[in-house]
Amino acid sequence: MFDSGIRYTLADVAKCNGKNGARTWIVVHDNVYDVTDYMHHHPGGPELLGEYAGKDATSGFDDFGHSSDAKKMLKEYLIGELEDEDKRANRKKKFAISNGVKMEASAGRRHRTLLAMLCGKCTC
Ligand code: HEM
Repeated sequence: MFDSGIRYTLADVAKCNGKNGARTWIVVHDNVYDVTDYMHHHPGGPELLGEYAGKDATSGFDDFGHSSDAKKMLKEYLIGELEDEDKRANRKKKFAISNGVKMEASAGRRHRTLLAMLCGKCTC
C-alpha cells in the first residue's frame, strides 16, 4: 500500500464534520478522505456522505457495493490514513484486496503529498 506517511487520529477526523465551515472528512478502510469537493457530485446524494462526516464510513461504503469506478474515485480524495491505534480492530481484509483499489500514486495524491511535504498535515 502506498504510504504517504500522513496520519490522522479519529479525533482529527471528527473535527472535520462539515459543520461551521469545517471540511468534510470520512474514513473508509483506515484511509482518510476529504470529500468536501465531491459530496455534491455523489450519485447517492450529499446527505449520505454528510451522515458520515467526521466518521468511519466503511460499512456504508461497502454495504452499497460501489462499482470499481467508484472505488477508483476514492483515490482522488485520499489525504492520509489513520494512526495505528485508531485503525479498525478487524483488519483481516486488506483494503487493496477487499476494495480492489490499487494504491499507486495518483496525480491527485502526488499533489497532496507534495502539499503535505510543504505544509504538513491537512486541516479543516
Ligand atoms: C468518497 C466516497 C464515495 C465515493 C467516491 C462514492 C461514489 C459513488 C458512485 C460513483 C456512485 C454511482 C454508482 C457506482 O458507481 O457504484 C455511488 C452511488 C451510491 N453511493 Fe457512493 N460513494 C462514496 C461514499 C458513499 C458512502 C459513505 C455511502 C454511504 C451510504 C454511499 C452510498 C451510495 C449509494 C446509496 C449510492 C446509490 C445511489 C443511487 O443509485 O441512487 N456512498 N457512489
